[in-house]
Amino acid sequence: MLRTADLSVEKINKLLQDADEFSKGKTLKAKGEIYVSNLFFEDSTRTKTSFDVAERKLGLNVVPFDISASSVNKGESLYDTVKTLKSIGLDLCVIRHKKEKFYDEFKGIDIAIINGGDGTGNHPSQNILDLMTIQQEFGKFKGLKVGIVGDVKHSRVANSNAEVLRKLGAKVYFSGPEQWFDEGTIINGTYLSIDDLVKEVDVVMLLRIQHERHDSDEKLKLSSDKYHRQFGLTTEREKAMKKDAIIMHPAPINRGVEIADELVECKRSRIFKQMENGVFARMAILKTALEAKGFEFE
Ligand code: NCD
Repeated sequence: MLRTADLSVEKINKLLQDADEFSKGKTLKAKGEIYVSNLFFEDSTRTKTSFDVAERKLGLNVVPFDISASSVNKGESLYDTVKTLKSIGLDLCVIRHKKEKFYDEFKGIDIAIINGGDGTGNHPSQNILDLMTIQQEFGKFKGLKVGIVGDVKHSRVANSNAEVLRKLGAKVYFSGPEQWFDEGTIINGTYLSIDDLVKEVDVVMLLRIQHERHDSDEKLKLSSDKYHRQFGLTTEREKAMKKDAIIMHPAPINRGVEIADELVECKRSRIFKQMENGVFARMAILKTALEAKGFEFE
């Protein structure tokens, strides 16, 4: 599972259905021994922990892998690390890495790979948990209006969600500092000011400023407070949202920057629901990836 947009609509729907069943209490355990590891070359709280929990719920053997104490620090390449883990007996690796499409390197290695986030590229498990959260709320994607707000250019969540949401028939709107948009980012999307966007959409999806990906000329010269007032979801803007519209955010959240502190846990917020759904979405993804390699669950 490398890019959600490469999956057919049927396959996306099957993942959503499996995730929904897991969320309603369905249990499945791996038949026989399956060994998996989570390799996170970039920081993570939610994605790494929820893959870990999802793996344990499915009865998989989780082999700890600490990048900071591995031979990566002795100059071992990503290819050699994965080839080594395959030789030792691992069946699946979840990998997060700053290099876009890092997974292209592993074509010759017979191991299941799940993309835990590749640079500014894709974040498939976030896509599935976000789709799941939207579907729980609205029961459909066709005709739904989703506004993605903030550092769109540097966010793998924004880019991969926009692609898959459009594929499923939703209309995607963007907002945020214009310096973080280029033609490529908003293909088939519509740019609106934040004040117009909040009135228009069913979902306001906020993004953290991706400081770690900014070149010196991309750094925003605004204080957090000014950013919040110009581009953020303030308490006033929340009041202008449609009656049943919801707030989403992949987190980590910078309270008071892209979203007002008080709104993080407000009635419209589905932010912690997204995290809850993340475990079930990842169970569905793990099951699908392992079944494709011939493993079975009962
Ligand atoms: C996101 C990521 O890593 O792309 N986090 C996540 O997985 N929930 C978003 C971010 O870091 O801002």
